[in-house]
Amino acid sequence: MKVIAIANQKGGVGKTTTACNLAAGLAIRGYNTLLIDLDSQCNTTVTYLDQEIIKTTLADVLVGHHTRPPLIEATYQTHIEGLDIVPSHIRLAMIERTVAIEEQYRLKDCLDSLVDYEFVIIDCPPSLGMTLTQALLASTHVLVPVAAQYYPLEGVVDLTSTINATKRPNPNLAVLGYLLTYFDARNKICGEALNKLQEMFGVAVFETIIRTNVKLQTAPAFRKTIYEHAPGSHGSEDYDSLSEEVINRLSMKAKLKAVKE
Ligand SMILES: Nc1ncnc2c1ncn2[C@@H]1O[C@H](COP(=O)(O)OP(=O)(O)OP(=O)(O)O)[C@@H](O)[C@H]1O
Ligand SMILES: [Mg+2]
Repeated sequence: MKVIAIANQKGGVGKTTTACNLAAGLAIRGYNTLLIDLDSQCNTTVTYLDQEIIKTTLADVLVGHHTRPPLIEATYQTHIEGLDIVPSHIRLAMIERTVAIEEQYRLKDCLDSLVDYEFVIIDCPPSLGMTLTQALLASTHVLVPVAAQYYPLEGVVDLTSTINATKRPNPNLAVLGYLLTYFDARNKICGEALNKLQEMFGVAVFETIIRTNVKLQTAPAFRKTIYEHAPGSHGSEDYDSLSEEVINRLSMKAKLKAVKE
């Protein structure tokens, strides 16, 4: 099971958009995938689930000292075959108050008990706090979206140090790649941002680049993935290509879905 944290402490760089559409891209390719919303803003949750059907959330599973339900109780099917989701709740922000070391391993302990999934995608909040620590302790890989802006590397260095520090308790943790987002070829700054990122991280930068595409913004309002909302759009093409590249980087052979007759 590959557990991929989508992380960058900078806000609005495309973490949630990447988590939602990468998870769907993997499920569509036949991989059983679990999407975990670890952000108390709940953006991933509302993209996939109607608030009314949610009874148990990740906050019930991870927060508090009393009896906590198992992760399976907070797992819901999405409308995409092969894609399940664990919704978040505003109370998840309480994780930031975690002090006891064993509490930092709660998410990892939950994931260790899972057997049904080939991929777990974790949408992290925009901070370097205890919630990110829980995610990194539970993950095998980190994918870092970086917005193609003037100072793209601001903060990425701090995140890389945090990832390296987590390798002590979690030696298997690896950076899956840095993903440039909001790319606009007409904007000179975007080209410079790409060069800087490649200079700094070399082949760790994904070949796939996510272009700015307004359809990526509107899809969640319709509770749709980009592939359903705007097939053929730049957003759909780019996330499709990212899903392929992630599978290739992990050397997992693309699964051919059995053709239904
Ligand atoms: N490639 C893109 N082109 C256009 N809009 C995008 C793109 N990627 C994301 N957006 C939009 O930008 C906004 C922020 O993106 P998103 O929520 O994915 O970022 P985030 O890193 O998860 O933010 P936060 O740090 O607040 O969790 C959203 O409205 C999203 O729809
Ligand atoms: Mg987000």
